[in-house]
Amino acid sequence: MNEKTQRVIAEVAAILSDARRVVVLTGAGASAESGVATFRDAQTGLWSRFDAQRLASQAGFRDDPGLVWGWYMHRLAMVEVAEPNPGHHALAALAGEVAALTLITQNVDDLHERAGSPHVLHLHGHIARFHCNECGAAYYLQPEDRVASLPPVCHLCNGYVRPSVVWFGEMLPDRVLTAAWRAAEQCDVFLVVGTSGIVYPAAQLPIVAHNHGAQVVEINTEPSMLSESVDYVLLGPSGQILPDVLAEVRSRRS
Ligand code: OAD
Repeated sequence: MNEKTQRVIAEVAAILSDARRVVVLTGAGASAESGVATFRDAQTGLWSRFDAQRLASQAGFRDDPGLVWGWYMHRLAMVEVAEPNPGHHALAALAGEVAALTLITQNVDDLHERAGSPHVLHLHGHIARFHCNECGAAYYLQPEDRVASLPPVCHLCNGYVRPSVVWFGEMLPDRVLTAAWRAAEQCDVFLVVGTSGIVYPAAQLPIVAHNHGAQVVEINTEPSMLSESVDYVLLGPSGQILPDVLAEVRSRRS
C-alpha cells in the first residue's frame, strides 16, 4: 500500500469511528474477488459478453423464456459455489465497530449474508428467489428446474416463473428503496464499494447522502462515474482495502 492510500485509510477510519450512522452501498465489484462476474468491466463483465436486453428484460423473457431461464440457472450455480471474500467479511465485522451501519447492495447474490451481515437491503432482488411473472406468487425452485429448457410454470396461474431480480425497465422493490433512501439521507458517512455508478436509482444514493451532509468514500479498482463527486477515493480491490479500513478502525478503539 502506498503512503497516500495509507493516509486516506487513516482519515476514513477516523470519520467512521466518529460517525453516528454509516451506510454502505455495494455493487458487483464487491463480489468480483469471489469469482462472481461484474457487469461492465471490459472483457469479463457480463454485459460486454451478453445482450442485457435479451437476458434481463420483460421483452427478452417473452421472446425466449428458455434462454433467459438457462442463463439465470447458470449464474445461480456460479453464485452458489462462490464464497464471501475478505471484503464481505470486513463489512460484516465493521457493523460491530461503528455506531450503526446499514448495508445496501445492488448484488443479487447472498455473499454479504453468508459473511454474517444481517438485514441487507437488496435493491435489485435475489438470484436464488423466484416468483410467477404473471401473478407474482412465490415459487420454490425444484432440482429438475435447474436443467429444464423452459422456466417452470406457476402452480396457481400457469404463468412462467422467473428469478426475483429487477430487470431493465422494472421498478425497484418499493420498501427496500424507501429504506435505502432514508438511510442515505440520515447517515454521516456513506461508503460506496465496487459500483460503476451508472445504474439509477442506486447511483443516486451517494449523491443523496452527500446533499444531506454526509462524507462519501469510494472504494473501487478504478475511477467511476461517482469519483468526481465523492470526498475520498480509495483505489484498489475491496477485498484488500476494506480489511485495511477495518483494522484501522479497530486500532483507533484499542
Ligand atoms: P458494474 O459491472 O457496472 O461495475 C462494477 C464496478 O466494480 C466497476 O466500477 C469496477 O471498476 C469495480 N470493481 C471491479 N472489481 C473490483 C474489486 N475487486 N474491488 C472494487 N471494485 C471493483 O456493476 P454495478 O455497478 O454493480 O443490475 O452494476 C449495477 C447494476 O447494473 C447491477 O446491479 C445490475 C447491472 O445491470 C441489475 O441486475 C438490475
